[in-house]
Amino acid sequence: MRTIIVTGSNRGIGYSIAKYLAERHYRIIMVDYDRSINETGSKMNELYGNVEGIQCDVSSYEKCEEAFSTVDRHEIYGIVNNAGINRDVMFKNMTYEQWDAVIKTDLYSMFNVTKQFVNSMIENNSGRIVNISSASWNGNIGQANYSSAKAGVIGFTKTLARELGKYGITSNAVVPGFIKTPMTDAMPDKIKEKFIEKIPLKRIGTPDDVANAVEFLMKEESSYINGILLEVGGGMFL
Ligand SMILES: NC(=O)c1ccc[n+]([C@@H]2O[C@H](COP(=O)([O-])OP(=O)(O)OC[C@H]3O[C@@H](n4cnc5c(N)ncnc54)[C@H](O)[C@@H]3O)[C@@H](O)[C@H]2O)c1
Repeated sequence: MRTIIVTGSNRGIGYSIAKYLAERHYRIIMVDYDRSINETGSKMNELYGNVEGIQCDVSSYEKCEEAFSTVDRHEIYGIVNNAGINRDVMFKNMTYEQWDAVIKTDLYSMFNVTKQFVNSMIENNSGRIVNISSASWNGNIGQANYSSAKAGVIGFTKTLARELGKYGITSNAVVPGFIKTPMTDAMPDKIKEKFIEKIPLKRIGTPDDVANAVEFLMKEESSYINGILLEVGGGMFL
């Protein structure tokens, strides 16, 4: 059974990815800084028998080193770098803390987590890295911090695709559009309606829409797909 780490999986898209993959017979390590991740992992384990939860703040390199010290590195087949936050505000009013928190969580986490497993993946001569970016990577009002981090995720993804391909490791990004999660539930209804109006499918996406794209990239049969941006946005990118 192949083992996949999913960060930011206590709720939202990460939770759905973990569940979707566990249902499809992967062993899952759910990672979140929320302490209830241990309980979430146990509950999921009762259902599928192949899940554990590890509490870790992925914005900290030291905490990642510590939290993953008990994980058998060679068991890890896949990483889903999903943990992310937003702190939306116009750049003129953005504080250093709002900038720093988003860059550390959404971009540094890519390094902090992937670095723990990349050498064992190279030794295994196989692996899958799937990074969650966002439609905002292209620039978005009120999201200088978030857009910068999510554009960085794409540079990181494509660079690893070039560097690691020769070891049988693929690196791809999933780019969600507008997905119903606690992150977007916090947005005012008026803004949500405006977004939906611009989506050709005229609906907000579900976390499972994203999980399906991640599962596709994890497949053995997807071994020739490397360095892509897989957009899950109901056509909003057209
Ligand atoms: N919801 C959307 O419409 C949307 C669109 C594009 C991209 N995304 C991206 O998808 C990912 C998941 O978003 P979501 O909507 O499910 O968000 P969410 O806020 O609902 O869930 C995020 C999860 O990540 C965890 N987390 C946050 N910071 C962490 C840290 N430092 N260490 C460990 N865990 C941490 C949270 O505890 C939470 O469980 C994010 O990277 C987000 O940027 C979301």
